[in-house]
Amino acid sequence: MSNHNETTTFAQQLRSDPRLSQAKQLILDAVADYQQHIVNVRPARPELELAYQQMLDAFGEIRGGSLYFPYLASGLGNGPFVELADGSVKLDMITGIGVHGYGHSHPLLVEAGIDAALSDTVMQGNLQQGAESFELVKLLTATANESGAHLNHCFLSTSGAMANENSLKMAFQKNQPANRVVAFSHCFAGRTLALSQVTDKPGNRVGLPDTIAVDYIPFYRADDPAGSTESAVNHLKWQIKRHPGKIAALWMELVLGEGGYYLGSPEFFQALSSVARENQIAVIADEVQTFGRTSRLFAFQHFELDQHVDLVTIGKISQVCATLYTDDYKPKPGLISQTFTGSSWAIIAANAIIRGLIDQGHFGKEGRNMQLHAYFQAGLQRISERLPQAVAGPYGIGGMVAFTPFKGELEKAKEMVNRMYHAGLMSFIAGSDPVRIRFLMPLGSVEERHIDLACQIIEQIAEEMNAEA
Ligand SMILES: Cc1ncc(COP(=O)(O)O)c(C=O)c1O
Repeated sequence: MSNHNETTTFAQQLRSDPRLSQAKQLILDAVADYQQHIVNVRPARPELELAYQQMLDAFGEIRGGSLYFPYLASGLGNGPFVELADGSVKLDMITGIGVHGYGHSHPLLVEAGIDAALSDTVMQGNLQQGAESFELVKLLTATANESGAHLNHCFLSTSGAMANENSLKMAFQKNQPANRVVAFSHCFAGRTLALSQVTDKPGNRVGLPDTIAVDYIPFYRADDPAGSTESAVNHLKWQIKRHPGKIAALWMELVLGEGGYYLGSPEFFQALSSVARENQIAVIADEVQTFGRTSRLFAFQHFELDQHVDLVTIGKISQVCATLYTDDYKPKPGLISQTFTGSSWAIIAANAIIRGLIDQGHFGKEGRNMQLHAYFQAGLQRISERLPQAVAGPYGIGGMVAFTPFKGELEKAKEMVNRMYHAGLMSFIAGSDPVRIRFLMPLGSVEERHIDLACQIIEQIAEEMNAEA
């Protein structure tokens, strides 16, 4: 054991103990030994199928409803590939709806997990945080402000919904007595009592009491940039006129995620934000799904809204969620707090994932995110040319890719997702009328060959369904 040194803590000395780096290497080597078998999709092992099905049935029963996919991970994967507890291997191009940005069992995540196991607690919270939490809020505010934003503050939380709730609370408190929100048609903001009102999906709030009043304005239309911008601005102005002094926040989801992968433009968002700012309305960007997936770490930077945003929320790929905000929106004591800010693993992994994406060239107009998107888009385009009925589009941006299957009929889209799943490819639906099939790639580990495999499976299923139609 090393001797005590007055300038370092025992924890620092422990982390630089050579036994730990040896143990870490041993663990990484052992993981790699088993990962080398997980390099392609494969069906379940017949010997494991019965027990797996029993597990799924019992899980569904306890949970009160079956799982969307018959998916229970074995606990090992290899980048975009994941082994399930029935021995099958899937190509994961949906990543828990955008969470597993480095895929499965990536060395960066395993290392973060070992470091976390060596920290003194499983969870961190507002009363007692670790130095990693400080590192994370510094990293997030520094990168958020690198092209002119003023998001000097950052509050961590455990879910996208909580980050969004916190942003709404700050906006209401600052702009009181304003008590309404304006949001885009078809936006998704989360499922709490308040956010179920912001989310433009009436089905998600059946039986719930009204909490906050939300007015909707239309989103951007790529086929009519000027007209749709004018229309949205006019709707916003009209709402401001109808409810003078009562609108606290303009809620902007910069790429409609659950809504079906529709993009806005810098001019569209800037025009709306300018009207909001002139009327003392908080401009909130919900980046829970877009964070880390566009040409910049933050999508508000991609859409050149640095001078416009007051509050920005992030989640999913960041493992820990957060609300970033300007000096003006600083909450009064007591407004926001909670027991957990996240597990030590999530916080350490958040730092590693964000630094990893930056250091590995994921951002920039020609960065890896945009390259991967272009490659996937070209593959889908080729399928679309051969089978236009089955695959239309593609749509999306960066690490968000989608196509419209079979005119966007819900049942067909679900069937295609299901058949691709059984053929080894994980995707999910988005939007309604048309319903699209979307992919949230594990950007940190996906390679062109994985996208080729995904396209091969999409084409095979598209062909089969086309022939049956
Ligand atoms: C844009 C957006 N906001 C908020 C949320 C809610 O995040 P969470 O499910 O972590 O509460 C989601 C989740 O899909 C989302 O896509």
